[in-house]
Amino acid sequence: MIKVGVVGIGMMGSTHLDVYQKLNTAKVVAVADLIKERREGRTTAAGNIEGQSQGGKDFSSFRKYEDGMDLIADPDIDLIDICLPTPRHLPYAVAALKAGKHVLVEKPFARTAREGEILARVASESKGMLMCAMCMRFWPGWNWLKKCVDEQRFGQVLAAQFRRVSSHPGGPFYSDGDACGGAILDLHIHDTDFIQYCFGRPRSVTSYGYSHQTTHIDHVVTHYEYDNIPLVVAEGGWAMQAGTPFQMQYTINFEEATAVFDLAAENTLTLLQKGERQAVDLPGGLGYDHEIQYFLECIASGEKPEVVLPESAVTSVEIVEAELESIRTGKTVEL
Ligand SMILES: NC(=O)c1ccc[n+]([C@@H]2O[C@H](COP(=O)([O-])OP(=O)(O)OC[C@H]3O[C@@H](n4cnc5c(N)ncnc54)[C@H](O)[C@@H]3O)[C@@H](O)[C@H]2O)c1
Repeated sequence: MIKVGVVGIGMMGSTHLDVYQKLNTAKVVAVADLIKERREGRTTAAGNIEGQSQGGKDFSSFRKYEDGMDLIADPDIDLIDICLPTPRHLPYAVAALKAGKHVLVEKPFARTAREGEILARVASESKGMLMCAMCMRFWPGWNWLKKCVDEQRFGQVLAAQFRRVSSHPGGPFYSDGDACGGAILDLHIHDTDFIQYCFGRPRSVTSYGYSHQTTHIDHVVTHYEYDNIPLVVAEGGWAMQAGTPFQMQYTINFEEATAVFDLAAENTLTLLQKGERQAVDLPGGLGYDHEIQYFLECIASGEKPEVVLPESAVTSVEIVEAELESIRTGKTVEL
């Protein structure tokens, strides 16, 4: 049984607690949050996806810490799950690795690519494993897409379009652009990351965007340039009016098929081929369930978490920084 300590019981910490509760390979033994009501389980958090962070858990058996550093110092914990505001990923993940623990750190890997490189270096010198919770790599329908691309199941990709938009989530962390990095780093990075996971590092990026709720970029459209794929674009933002439902979509045009994922559609994933429409069956659970299960399996077997290596999580932050540079300069930025 892997003993887990969850640091930060906000929206994501609460979502991760829900996942651990369903598993019999791990047991949450401790939680930490600066806010007493949260570490005592007296508040519920609301996520933007059905099934996310429903709250209502029993916290009575958990050891409770105010600061995450005290939880990290607890010798009776194997895995530290860091769901802290992004600027705290680096110091807390480094401390946990130096304490000899395994570490799951929420996305984005770090506030800057430079910080991410430091974290990846510390991980390479540590006995514990480190994985960034890039949940789209595990999301039903998205891991299917990755397989289709790798196997060239429907021929080459001609065009790939991703879209992730919502209204602003509110709250102090998401309203502080310096902390969350705006929607470009906090929300859109899911698509940037998935694009580099599927297609590799782009040659260059050309981005357009604006600030609205924060002083950072809250809505972006990026064209990722590749030598072998004519069109790869992603739109991401939380600048929509309050009440706009969360939208998560992709349309991939292969030589021999078109795949359409729409979280809000009756059939979440549809494949169109030779004039026929077919709903693709998807496994249950959300990306969070599958990513946590995967990392626990890696810890149990001692296998490196190859699906999200630290270096690859750094690359996603680096690409987002190139997108920011492109918006700032109005130019295409080489990577
Ligand atoms: N994978 C995803 O889809 C996804 C979704 C949402 C958020 N996230 C990421 O998860 C992270 C957390 O986001 P959130 O929405 O849960 O934020 P949040 O503000 O809801 O929660 C963060 C919690 O950390 C606590 N905290 C801060 N400093 C602490 C410390 N030193 N010790 C103990 N607790 C401390 C705060 O009190 C708060 O309760 C962010 O990096 C965010 O980008 C990922």
